Amino acid sequence: MPMETTRVGTSLKTASEQAAATIAAMPAYPKSIRCPICQRQCLTYAELADHYAAEHPDSVAPVAVTLNVNGKACALIFEPHLTLKHVLQFHLGLTGAKEMCDRGACGSCTVIMDGKPTLSCNILAAECEGKVIQTVEGIAVIPKWKPLIDAYCKWDAMQCGYCTPGFLVAAKVLLDRNPHPTEQEINEALSGNICICGTQPRHSQAILEAVLVMAEGSDG
Ligand code: FES
Ligand code: FES
Repeated sequence: MPMETTRVGTSLKTASEQAAATIAAMPAYPKSIRCPICQRQCLTYAELADHYAAEHPDSVAPVAVTLNVNGKACALIFEPHLTLKHVLQFHLGLTGAKEMCDRGACGSCTVIMDGKPTLSCNILAAECEGKVIQTVEGIAVIPKWKPLIDAYCKWDAMQCGYCTPGFLVAAKVLLDRNPHPTEQEINEALSGNICICGTQPRHSQAILEAVLVMAEGSDG
């Protein structure tokens, strides 16, 4: 079975199909607006804000933020101390970015924000109003990047796989700005990502092969 396929029920889904299903399932609006203190149901964010002012005046109210995630506009309401990583996972169902160190040291939680690699464990979601965010799921659904995912599988550039989404996102950012990097440039671009399973040397092999395959594809 190719490594990029996953058994779901009785059928096999490719990484791309699975990512597309995850993105399609992302809610554009909160499913319910509920006071996290007393569980009172509110119809709008304004009603929730009024409820906080009246009933919980000493508490910090949830915030309302709009993000564009993987091409989809999402209105979200959440408590202001939550990180972008937490909101992507628990409010939008995007589990691709992983939280390994939770302190900005390993790169496993990397997403792309306004074109730049960003550590999602290290930024409050409340600071991301209006940002355009791409996660590894958003990369997996774009056919252009299939050679990159295939090369990671072919070169076994993963063991437990926990660091892999962060590496793929960092590689995508590199190839966007430099489609023909040298091995040294690849290693420099991935220097903020750590693999505790020891796959580090295989990433440059995989990316160099993906570059060749993508160049052949664009020639054809
Ligand atoms: S989990 Fe974010 S940098 Fe390690
Ligand atoms: S493959 Fe396990 S942390 Fe990298």
